[in-house]
Amino acid sequence: MNPVRPQSAAAQAGLLAPLPVLQGRRVVLRPMRADDITEQHVLWLNDPEVVRYSNQRFVRHTRIGCLQYLAGFEGSPNLYASIRLPDPDGTGESRIGTITGYRNPYHGTADMGILMGDRAVWGQGLGRDAFCTLADWLALQPGMRKITCGTLASNLAMLQVAHAAGFVREAVRTAQELVDGQATDLVLFARFC
Ligand SMILES: CC(C)(COP(=O)(O)OP(=O)(O)OC[C@H]1O[C@@H](n2cnc3c(N)ncnc32)[C@H](O)[C@@H]1OP(=O)(O)O)[C@@H](O)C(=O)NCCC(=O)NCCS
Repeated sequence: MNPVRPQSAAAQAGLLAPLPVLQGRRVVLRPMRADDITEQHVLWLNDPEVVRYSNQRFVRHTRIGCLQYLAGFEGSPNLYASIRLPDPDGTGESRIGTITGYRNPYHGTADMGILMGDRAVWGQGLGRDAFCTLADWLALQPGMRKITCGTLASNLAMLQVAHAAGFVREAVRTAQELVDGQATDLVLFARFC
């Protein structure tokens, strides 16, 4: 039984549409597959610097756990993509991170998250490119009303990425989480479609 009953046929198609391969300015987003769960992928999730602002830092990640997480997307409205950067010589692509979109077809909403696992590419505009690319695609889907994301106030790069992708600050959960023992605000963003 399909538990999802959105408002109209158009909304149903839009809110459950599978993710195509999306071309950003520089990055390419490809639906995540089991062979994207590489040793490197698991290392990203266990890298304290990468997960510094994420609750993933409290979990010890394994390949099996990552495969189970990926399997959870199957048959769901939710999207999980590998962020790729074409190699300079044009012969292939490097995996540099992952991005998610949790869609709620009942409400016409989606909540986004991003993890640029390869720290060597940080600060080059690629996180912004990936986030804008998925947000723009989601916003064009029939029935989509509102896209959200959230980040801790100390994650300055993510605050910038959210702004660049057209999100506005809609709420702050004051002193919501502890980062290095410091009570830190959680900033919630929204982009209306
Ligand atoms: C947060 C993250 C997505 C940013 O990606 P990125 O590729 O490094 O960021 P970009 O190079 O696209 O930079 C985006 C903006 O942030 C700014 N920025 C980047 N690093 C910064 C830093 N350390 N401090 C302040 N600003 C920073 C850039 O100047 C840029 O600003 P602009 O839009 O005004 O030019 C990436 O670092 C990441 O995935 N981190 C680990 C996981 C994570 O924190 N995810 C978000 C959890 S909610």
